[in-house]
Amino acid sequence: MTSEKKIIAVGSDHAALPAKKKLMTILEQRGFEVVDKGTYTEDSCDYPEFSHAVAEAVESGAASCGLLMCGTGLGMMYAANRHPNIRAALCWSKETAALSREHNDSNILVLPGRVPSLDPLEDILAAWLDTPFSNDERHIRRIRKIER
Ligand code: RB5
Repeated sequence: MTSEKKIIAVGSDHAALPAKKKLMTILEQRGFEVVDKGTYTEDSCDYPEFSHAVAEAVESGAASCGLLMCGTGLGMMYAANRHPNIRAALCWSKETAALSREHNDSNILVLPGRVPSLDPLEDILAAWLDTPFSNDERHIRRIRKIER
């Protein structure tokens, strides 16, 4: 995925708000137009609201990709993957992030916000952004089989 003026929709709950803000800065530095679907405060909130908002933006084409964060990333991933043609990947390493792009053409990166250090998240985000889909026939076939 290249970083020329693409729109990325981002969302988090309260648990990942500081981490989301940090990664938003990085996305802006890389030239993305960042559309923040919330949450905007550290008040306790319900993660599915923001997950659905980001998934809808990607599903509709309003954004070319998305970033979702909550405490673990799990709740965000569950909700986003209820949407057709959304492949929201909770990644825990540069390798899984790259493979989620190369093999699965993931269109939303999901990350945990309750982590001891944000540094690994920055590396994972970079790997995800910098890895294109392989366009390999077997991966296209497998992705089609996800949508029944
Ligand atoms: C909020 O406490 C927490 O449940 C949420 O951030 C997330 O981890 C859910 O999957």
